[in-house]
Amino acid sequence: MLKRVLSAAVMSLLFAGSVYAQPAWTVPDPNTLPDDAFGRTVRYGRDLVLKSSSLIGPDAPDPAMRFSGSGLECQSCHLGGGTQRFALPLAGLWGVFPTYLARENDVQTLEGRINGCMQRSLNGKPLPVDGKEMKSILTYIRFISAGEPVGQSLDGRGTPPLPLPDRAADPVRGKAVFAQICSACHGADGQGLRLTSEEAKDTGRRYRYPPLWGPDSFNDGAGMNRAITMARFVHANMPFGTTFEAPVVSDADAFDVAAFVVSQPRPHQAGLDADFPDRSRKPIDAGFGPFVGPFPATQHRFGPWKPIQAWVKSNNGASGKAD
Ligand code: HEC
Ligand code: HEC
Repeated sequence: MLKRVLSAAVMSLLFAGSVYAQPAWTVPDPNTLPDDAFGRTVRYGRDLVLKSSSLIGPDAPDPAMRFSGSGLECQSCHLGGGTQRFALPLAGLWGVFPTYLARENDVQTLEGRINGCMQRSLNGKPLPVDGKEMKSILTYIRFISAGEPVGQSLDGRGTPPLPLPDRAADPVRGKAVFAQICSACHGADGQGLRLTSEEAKDTGRRYRYPPLWGPDSFNDGAGMNRAITMARFVHANMPFGTTFEAPVVSDADAFDVAAFVVSQPRPHQAGLDADFPDRSRKPIDAGFGPFVGPFPATQHRFGPWKPIQAWVKSNNGASGKAD
């Protein structure tokens, strides 16, 4: 099984030249646009998503452009440049924002949501909202969202639901899953496979396989640092090349390996206790307090989550949903 997913075809996908090599949706290709202001803006927005580390990150030649503080690209999590179903797509979002978000308990703009990932998933600073980079990412998202109705979530948004386990996710078992399946790419120490400076220059990326924890990874306030979110992402998309239609990792392995990965050290986001000011809307798997209800912090992090879900539901909260 592992041999299949590590096949040469899958390995070469990453650097095949086009991230649109295996489109699961019909998403418009920025390369078809003419060399005019709109086309150039869309393509720059795409490049920012694919090459965040070198354009707006630690490898940007101009220190004033180093907004991201991690070695990740947006694409490290928004697979295929945000064009893949159930791989946290950016396609389709244009008609969905502004929208209510529980994290702020307020309506959030698309710019604000992007900057949420800048600060947490990329462990950095917000992009200036009226700057060229934000404008280009927005234009890219608008372009790849073409054809989607306004006000309606796409089928394929986020990650697919995964039934919650009855037991707590087990980080010790997860460590073994990691060693068996994930370490082949992400490294035995989870620090990924860093490109040589030559390769980094050619690709605009810092890693061939991104780090899952440590100083160059996402911080502890990122959505990916929640065990249920990560389990769903991993189940549908990992090992790289997997799609939600044919998952490779079992449900139990996905939860256990997620519990292991979210237990590892990573940069800290200040002020997390101010997140989700309406505590009844806080995701049940948030890794940090304060929480509503009688459950200890470890149960929020690792489960079992069904009792929390039931409690929240009977107390009229909204976060009984796994997302
Ligand atoms: C470490 C992984 C990771 C990286 C890197 C990352 N994101 Fe995200 N992003 C997520 C996750 C996970 C979510 C869903 C969040 C949740 O469930 O709270 C998300 C959500 C979003 C959303 C809202 C999606 C929706 O369906 O509502 C946007 C927009 C977004 N990210 C943009 C970006 C951009 C632009 C970048 C690069 C500047 C980026 N992200 C980098 C993990 C990441
Ligand atoms: C065949 C190589 C490969 C294997 C095996 C693999 N991954 Fe990945 N993983 C990738 C690549 C490549 C990316 C980034 C995608 C991109 O840049 O286009 C990624 C991204 C991720 C991300 C989001 C980015 C980040 O740095 O956090 C997570 C989380 C993740 N993988 C977890 C796992 C887990 C858990 C396993 C084991 C069940 C696993 N992966 C197995 C190649 C792999």
